[in-house]
Amino acid sequence: MSAAAPPVQHPRAKDGFRGRTCSITAVGSYVPTRVLTNADLEKMVDTTDEWITSRTGIKERRIAARDEYTSDIAAQAATRALHHAGLTANQLDLIILATITPDMLFPSTACLVQRKIGAHRAAAFDIEAACSGFIFGLEIGQQFIMSRTYNTILVIGAEKLSTIIDWSDRSTCVLFGDGAGAAILQNRPNSHGLLTVCMGSDGNKADLLSMPGGGSRCPATEKSVADRLHYLRMDGKETFKSAIGAMLTAAQEALRRCDIDIGRIKCVIPHQANQRIIDAVGERLGVRPDQVFVNVDRYGNTSAASVAIALDEAVRSGRVQRGDLILLVVFGAGLTWGAAVIEW
Ligand code: UT7
Repeated sequence: MSAAAPPVQHPRAKDGFRGRTCSITAVGSYVPTRVLTNADLEKMVDTTDEWITSRTGIKERRIAARDEYTSDIAAQAATRALHHAGLTANQLDLIILATITPDMLFPSTACLVQRKIGAHRAAAFDIEAACSGFIFGLEIGQQFIMSRTYNTILVIGAEKLSTIIDWSDRSTCVLFGDGAGAAILQNRPNSHGLLTVCMGSDGNKADLLSMPGGGSRCPATEKSVADRLHYLRMDGKETFKSAIGAMLTAAQEALRRCDIDIGRIKCVIPHQANQRIIDAVGERLGVRPDQVFVNVDRYGNTSAASVAIALDEAVRSGRVQRGDLILLVVFGAGLTWGAAVIEW
């Protein structure tokens, strides 16, 4: 940041905001130990490392063990975030968990995580905004903090996508991986924290990326299984185009609300779906490649966990320091999208 840059004003200051601020006070993440490389995929479907690398940037992804569920992955990330915050699970008021791969349709995976980590005082619920879920969760959490309803909130993005991937479909099975990231939200007077969060949706494009089976419209039957309706389906080309436009619009809106020039953002953390999407959004935003955090090469697309894992890695690697301005920007099924500007 240049020495002459004026101080950042919190957007709420214009509305008489008096000191209460929602900050991310700690983050944590977890990925399963098993690595599935592009070379492994070459043995499973008609693909090549060259095709996957050049079209997506992905080299490998993590796959959870058979008996390791979304709630387990989420609980690991949550425990790390709590540890980094110096908190015990019993101090949590609320758990918000974003996922498209819950352990089961109900009860919520958030309640299963509550049991696993021993967060006895907390209320807990799931949200579903696909790859945008973590940012939607941050905004929901922020509203509870700012309204003084809760003081200490755990937001988790967690996925075991390997269970809904059609491992015979080369157009999708090379793209996704498992993992989780978590953040602790707290009121921190005298800090700016979450400056703004933008969210958007377009249900008219719901069919671009979906899993048709398993809900009330198409419950599991022998036919639904035979028709492979319990797997993720995607129109890759159309999703690609929508992703670039929506992420760009969301990022620009978030920056505009904060009156911040992109040059002042220390680190852009985009949804990790495809290196080409990340590059296209970065180029249109006018950021240098070294301003953009990327780990899609190591984990693929982990949906709701994606930016949460990336944020934790950016913090742990020193790419993001306290006081830095960061921009998260996401896109996913729904369609859904969002962006957040944070003074770390
Ligand atoms: O998290 C939610 C957001 N998700 C996304 O943003 C994903 C968006 N979409 C994408 O990232 C890209 O569209 C893909 C990576 C999924 C596909 O890249 P593409 O450049 O759009 O390729 P394509 O679908 O146009 O396929 C090009 C060719 C086709 O062959 P023909 O018809 O040209 O002969 C495909 O059959 O590549 C073929 N192909 C593959 N070849 C080798 C598709 N998948 C593979 C594969 N290996 N794994």
